[in-house]
Amino acid sequence: MTAFARNQWYVAAYGREVGRDLLARTVLGEPIAFYRTEDEEQRVVALADRCVHRRFPLSESRLDGDRVVCGYHGFTYDTTGTCVYVPGQRRIPRTARVNSYPVVEQDTFVWVWIGDPELADSAAVPRAPHLADGENWTSVSGMEPIDADYGLLVDNLLDLSHETYLHGGYIGTPEVAETPITTEVDEAGAIVRVSRHMDDAECPPFYARSTGIEGRITRHQDIEYLAPCLYLLHSRITPAGQEAPAFHTEITYAITPSTEGSVYDFWAVSRDFARDDEEVTTFLHDFNHTVVMQDVDALNLLQRALATEPAGYQELSINIDTGGLAARRILARLAEQKQ
Ligand code: FES
Ligand SMILES: [Fe+2]
Repeated sequence: MTAFARNQWYVAAYGREVGRDLLARTVLGEPIAFYRTEDEEQRVVALADRCVHRRFPLSESRLDGDRVVCGYHGFTYDTTGTCVYVPGQRRIPRTARVNSYPVVEQDTFVWVWIGDPELADSAAVPRAPHLADGENWTSVSGMEPIDADYGLLVDNLLDLSHETYLHGGYIGTPEVAETPITTEVDEAGAIVRVSRHMDDAECPPFYARSTGIEGRITRHQDIEYLAPCLYLLHSRITPAGQEAPAFHTEITYAITPSTEGSVYDFWAVSRDFARDDEEVTTFLHDFNHTVVMQDVDALNLLQRALATEPAGYQELSINIDTGGLAARRILARLAEQKQ
């Protein structure tokens, strides 16, 4: 189990998922109901998903304009979470309110702040601008819940040598596991960078079928992990030994702890080539979804296996784990920071 860093921004949903139907998500153990206001602004509202009366989930309730009417006995809440109506009496108890969480909608994501609202700085939300930049990038995306501690997903994404084994025939080739990495850690900025540059590598189907390259490739994988939630993999492919044409892919993950033992895996693939080619779009969506499910299955399995291990079980780390270990250190420090 990895502790949660509360005073941080986390992706709770894609903007497209939030509308006039209440959406339930649990972030850092807190059940939250999301919806969009009716006015022009169509702002995203995030309220604690438990009615103050008898804890009925507000996400299973209904909207009346921009108010939520509890589906059990009708307690009614405004967008700040203040109760504005209770049945059978005039006086509304002063404590009749639910928490309302700070929200920022940016780069197609809905970010939510679980910790001290005084510390929520909307200017500090990490950026993934390519996701909303339809001029220069074409993106496909999705989300898969995983029944694993979020730390296992962080480990997974910071060490891509697993591509060779878990994703062989999809995105992995022998060169990924064979090529050493370089790791840079920005402790103050809580950023881990892991790079792997392959000069002469086999082209995996993911890139062969999307770029049309037939021979071998020069392949650069440059990871930037902005702890705790945002992971960017800058990928650059050229035909082996050539500078051009260069094919860029931005692979984005948002890693959002849901509960102890469950995590939301938001994934996106953005490309700067064949941008209007629907076939490539469909291919990358379906293919990457398959790859994500290979990770989901592996992490579900790993979580179950670890649950049977005695406390304090031993691991054996090697060079490929440098980035993951740095990330664990940073996450532990962020989790310890004063609330
Ligand atoms: S539980 Fe919501 S009104 Fe009773
Ligand atoms: Fe993977």
